[in-house]
Amino acid sequence: MPQMRGRLLVLEGIDGAGKTTQADILETRLRREGVRVLRAREPGGTRIGERVRALLLDARRVEMDARTELFLYMASRAQLVSEVLAPALARGRVVLLDRYYYSTAAYQGAAGGVGIDEALALAERIAGFPRADRVILLDLDPRTGMARVNRPMDRMEKKGIAYLARVRAGFLRIARREPRRFAVVPADRPPETVAGDVYRRVRNVL
Ligand SMILES: Nc1ncnc2c1ncn2[C@@H]1O[C@H](COP(=O)(O)OP(=O)(O)OP(=O)(O)O)[C@@H](O)[C@H]1O
Ligand SMILES: [Mg+2]
Repeated sequence: MPQMRGRLLVLEGIDGAGKTTQADILETRLRREGVRVLRAREPGGTRIGERVRALLLDARRVEMDARTELFLYMASRAQLVSEVLAPALARGRVVLLDRYYYSTAAYQGAAGGVGIDEALALAERIAGFPRADRVILLDLDPRTGMARVNRPMDRMEKKGIAYLARVRAGFLRIARREPRRFAVVPADRPPETVAGDVYRRVRNVL
C-alpha cells in the first residue's frame, strides 16, 4: 500500500440509517470549505466492481451463501482500493465512502454467521485494505430504517428485522472494539441535527 497522506472517512449503518443523506450533506459542507473530496460507492465504483455489484444485487438475500456474499464484496472492494482509493489517498485527497468493509463485518460477519473477527481479518490483514481514519456509525432501530426505505413491515419476513437487528448489534460491537476510530451517532433525529454531529466527529481528523 502506498504511503497514505489523505484521509479516509466512512459512513456506516443499517439500511435506511441515512448514510447517503449524510454523505451528501458532508460532501457539500467540506467542498464549501475548499476540501477536495472524492466520493465512491460500494459495492461498485469501478468497471469490474459494477459487474460484481450487479451480481450481488440480483441474488441478494435469496440463495446466496453468506460466504459467497463476503467474497464478492471483498472482490469489488479490492478493485476499488487499487484503482481508486489508494491512488486518491496517495494524492492527499479526502475520500468519503458510503459503506466499507465494516459493513461486510456486520452483515456477513455478525448477521450472516461468518464472524466479525474473521471478516475484519480478511479485510485488514489478508487483503490489506486501508483503515478508515474515521467511521461514522449511524445507529438506528431496524424498524425505523425499514419504514424509511419504504419496505412496509407486513411484507418483511420476521427474519428480515431479526437479521437487521443482528447487523445493528454487530456494528455496535465493531465500534466498541475501536472507540477512537468510530463515532456512534444516533440517527433517529432530524437530518441537520445528525449532520452537526457527523461534521464535528469528522472535522477533528482532517
Ligand atoms: N434523519 C432522518 N430522519 C428521517 N428520514 C431520513 C433521515 N435521514 C434520511 N432520511 C430518509 O430516509 C430514507 C433513507 O435515507 P438514506 O438513503 O440516506 O439511507 P441509507 O442509509 O443510505 O440507506 P441504504 O442503506 O438503503 O442505502 C430517505 O428517504 C431519506 O430521505
Ligand atoms: Mg444509501
